Amino acid sequence: MTLTQTPSPLREGLRLQVMPEPCNMVIFGASGDLAHRKLLPALYNLALENYLPSGLNVIGFARRPKSNEEFAGDMRQAVDKFSRRSPVKPAVWDNFASRMQYNQSTFEDADGFTRLKALIEQNDKERGTCGNRLYYLSTPPSDYPIIIRQLGAAGLNKPGENGSWARIIIEKPFGHDLETAKELNHLVHDVFNEDQIYRIDHYLGKETVQNLFVFRFANGIFEPIWNRNYIDHVQITISESIGVEGRGAFYEQAGVVRDFIQNHLMQLLCCVAMEPPTTFDADRIRDEKIKVMQAIKPYHARLVDDYVVRGQYGRGWVGDQEVESYREEKDVKPDSVVDTYMAVKWTIDNWRWAGVPWFIRAGKRLPKRVTEIAIQFKAAPHLIFSNAQVPAHEPNILVLRIQPDEGISLRFGAKVPGPTLQARSVNMDFIYGSSFMTESPEAYETLILDCMLGEATLFTRSDEVETSWGILKPILDWWKDHGPPDTFPNYESGTWGPRRADGLIESEGRSWRRI
Ligand code: BG6
Repeated sequence: MTLTQTPSPLREGLRLQVMPEPCNMVIFGASGDLAHRKLLPALYNLALENYLPSGLNVIGFARRPKSNEEFAGDMRQAVDKFSRRSPVKPAVWDNFASRMQYNQSTFEDADGFTRLKALIEQNDKERGTCGNRLYYLSTPPSDYPIIIRQLGAAGLNKPGENGSWARIIIEKPFGHDLETAKELNHLVHDVFNEDQIYRIDHYLGKETVQNLFVFRFANGIFEPIWNRNYIDHVQITISESIGVEGRGAFYEQAGVVRDFIQNHLMQLLCCVAMEPPTTFDADRIRDEKIKVMQAIKPYHARLVDDYVVRGQYGRGWVGDQEVESYREEKDVKPDSVVDTYMAVKWTIDNWRWAGVPWFIRAGKRLPKRVTEIAIQFKAAPHLIFSNAQVPAHEPNILVLRIQPDEGISLRFGAKVPGPTLQARSVNMDFIYGSSFMTESPEAYETLILDCMLGEATLFTRSDEVETSWGILKPILDWWKDHGPPDTFPNYESGTWGPRRADGLIESEGRSWRRI
């Protein structure tokens, strides 16, 4: 099987119509967790679906010594373990593996980048990669600056020949706070132009997140009620039942704000709250997302403890499994005050959303894995039924389920069959799996392919990243200087987070959804 057959129906009808041009794709940190779990399985699945050009070369760049064959062997194991499609098809794999190369070097060693350049240029001549270069920074964020500088010093920031391209994908978190995000933007802009930079937030590559655009802007019926006149409040939940899964060292630096809130959660919020863009175009969409973030007033430091709740998981039970506390995880300090949970109430001060509270929560070691956006509508203005017939506290809720059980449901009151007039809430459900009978691609598949195609809509722009850090700055500053109001750990694994989070929403007469 060659890598250049007609695309399968999986992606037909989406914005992808064309095969990307051949390129050298260099993965920095190719021995790492992300490359194993996500990047290589994504590339293999793209190859399987015939979305990759035959002239694609994957070059692993990492510290450990390895031959090309050993690198391909490692990647095969990763694909066997983590690909959504298995077993691996030998013909597809052999073709793909023949295009894998390994460049052993530390990131500090300029010679390693000189060797990389020679390899890329040789591939351009001998393997038809046409001067196109795609760099993927899949390393700890502390390595980004040195890699970017070395790429610039070696002249690898420029494409190989006329009409070709050089692009760089930078993983989240982009910066550690507002200042470091600005520094990183500055540094990367010294070497690459903004249109070469693809800041990745894999949530934007999820089918259900992309569907938010379609749901809102391809249907006429929702837009008229998508505002403060009809919506009581919005809840966004990103809940994971897993803990830090061996990434204690990373998490000690990141915490939930840098891992989830600044990126995944803020993006979901923007997709729900933004104004309709004039066109479905990267910059028009990013402009609208930025306007949303600019309308979120950052909390004054003194208000942080009133409107933001932080938590850290203790021991407990998730399902039938007893799990250890965050402080007992590998590479975590036994007295760590790093947050693994955050809840916040935000308001978006513009004409559409004035007065509508947004309750946000995200955390690890909660009872189940679920990401959803719940839009709760205001009650009917005048009830002609008695409270016994139609309970007034049963609101209409539109739930956008990002994962799992991807879909959308609308909750409304319906008459219970029988001679008496009684109502009960029921759901009208759209379920992705049963409506389309097809498996969705992984977010990384969509995003890697988009980058190869030069399609930046699902990536974040420099000002977008800085604006979101700006909202979080007072929270992070306050947390850095002040201990948590509750003693950590303050929630048991397998529960819905600290009690203060309930207080945050209940003080308003509302409550978190019981998911
Ligand atoms: C990553 C976070 O960005 O997203 C992880 O670093 C988290 O902590 C993961 O587990 C969740 O992604 P998904 O696609 O499985 O929801």
